Amino acid sequence: MCGIIAVTGVEDPLSTLLEGLELLEYRGYDSAGIALVTGEGDEAGLFRLRSAVRAQSIAELARLGAGAPRGRAGLGHTRWATHGAPTEENAHPHLDCTGRVAVVHNGIIENHRELAAKLDAAGHRRTSATDSEVVAHLVEAELETGADLLEAVRRSAAVLRGDYALAISYAGEPDTLVATRRTSPLIIGRTERAGVVASDIAAVLGTTRELYALGDGEIAVVRPGSLEVVDAAGEPVEPSPLRVAWGVQAARRDGYEDFMSKEIHEQPRALADTLLERVLPEGTTELEELAAFEDELRRVERVVVVACGSSFHAGEIGRLALERWAKLPATAEIASEFRYREPVLDDRTLVVAISQSGETVDTYHALAEAARRGARTMAITNVVDSLMAREADAVIYTRAGPEIGVASTKCHVAQIILFQVFALHLARLRGSLGEDELARLAREIEALPGLVAEALGRSDEYAAVAARLAEVNDVFFLGRNVGYPVALEGALKLKELAYVRAEAYAAGEMKHGPISLIDRHAVAVVVANRGALWPKLLANIEEIKARGATVVAVTDEGDEETGRLADHVLEVPATDELLAPVVSVVPLQVLAYSVAKARGNDVDRPRNLAKVVTVE
Ligand code: F6R
Repeated sequence: MCGIIAVTGVEDPLSTLLEGLELLEYRGYDSAGIALVTGEGDEAGLFRLRSAVRAQSIAELARLGAGAPRGRAGLGHTRWATHGAPTEENAHPHLDCTGRVAVVHNGIIENHRELAAKLDAAGHRRTSATDSEVVAHLVEAELETGADLLEAVRRSAAVLRGDYALAISYAGEPDTLVATRRTSPLIIGRTERAGVVASDIAAVLGTTRELYALGDGEIAVVRPGSLEVVDAAGEPVEPSPLRVAWGVQAARRDGYEDFMSKEIHEQPRALADTLLERVLPEGTTELEELAAFEDELRRVERVVVVACGSSFHAGEIGRLALERWAKLPATAEIASEFRYREPVLDDRTLVVAISQSGETVDTYHALAEAARRGARTMAITNVVDSLMAREADAVIYTRAGPEIGVASTKCHVAQIILFQVFALHLARLRGSLGEDELARLAREIEALPGLVAEALGRSDEYAAVAARLAEVNDVFFLGRNVGYPVALEGALKLKELAYVRAEAYAAGEMKHGPISLIDRHAVAVVVANRGALWPKLLANIEEIKARGATVVAVTDEGDEETGRLADHVLEVPATDELLAPVVSVVPLQVLAYSVAKARGNDVDRPRNLAKVVTVE
């Protein structure tokens, strides 16, 4: 969703901003803009460019920027419309009435109507339908009282309600950027001569590695080579440094046709990195990050997982491992529902938020709500020091590297494997599994990156099956037990990438209604790895075949019995029943990818979707 980049003290602000915007576009956007502070003293002013030609907006800015005056500092923004249509007038940066204050904003100003009414009554002229523009006018009004930019932003932020990340430039202080945030993240970077503000690590990696995470309610004053941070009361605070393990190369396509294929092929590495030094062959699990949290973990009597989309599917798989291995009652819940219920929680309930970005607003608020209700909280995320990482009592990180393709692939499998390691860890702490079983599972987990690599070696076979499905418009995904969340994930991938209607069912539910939809035009993809319920799945396949549907089965290698029943098979290497999702999701990713490509869709930026969902 919306992205912010702001720079000062760099050689060529316009091109640094455009590069930053390109690195932010993966979040999803429908318009973009930049504002440059130009000139000196009385001559200082703002130069603004905006474009709303959807995914071409950044290229359009680069074209229009060819004649731009040289800037000293500037702001850039990618917008994903929430308040106001995706038009040029609504694109950021927004200016005040004097044209000397420029603002970029992520998030939602909840009281914007009330603020706009007051500003309008005071004679301000607003030119957009956005909630964001009020900030430019609030700052203008404070500057008129003689405040400097920092003080003007501090006072303005004090009247805002909602979630926001803001970066502000003012021609009266041409080299200064002021930034502040509540809930929505902001990162500040510094070099000897420059300063940068961004909503996302990906946008700043090329500029500097000296990074700081701005705290909730804090205000940063960024000047070339210097950074000052104050709290909401204006008292100085020490900026908190941010650790980043990724280089800028990690956010590039590296010769792959698209990020999604790169990320699918990076899965063995993402899994191996996530496991590194965390599982030892004798069954010992080392989750260093949880060392200080172990006493709390021993007291836990129940686990509730909250997440959205693919992360929710990883949670569904993880909670089954918790039940079976750690013998703990565990449920997984959709974060956007959980946060508005009245969940009954106590200090013996552990609420685990799973999120690739660590920023998804519903998951973040579900986590915060759980903490308010007295639960212990933990985050599983891929982004170090992200919002959820900072909010939770404890955090464990997937180490998948940056995921740029909108559809989650490598982060999804890394979430599953990390949750499984966590489940094993709890099983060991609780003494719920014997040493032999712990050691067997540890060895099987360690083998998973290799098995995923083997599955990827079969990509051409999977793509060949996909080629036969390129024209279908209705697909059922079926699974049982741990195969059901895999079916959910397969259906989600096909929907979001190929725009094919796909529904997932727990196979045992078919007879309770959905089977009436099955006829000879239907295609059913059945996740049929061998496990305790495999014989029952075979019966489900027979029922579907008897009604004329085409069956595509994900099977363990060499499983001829399932192979004979199905029309097409997607073979994967076999592993323990509960670990199988890490491998069996791979052909479903390739299937969705291939059908989407065959239909000419943009797999990295599927329509209507954003990578990071920072609004409800
Ligand atoms: C689907 C997908 C989304 C995300 C969901 C949660 O391929 O990527 O469903 O899983 O938006 O995002 P995070 O994990 O960042 O909280």
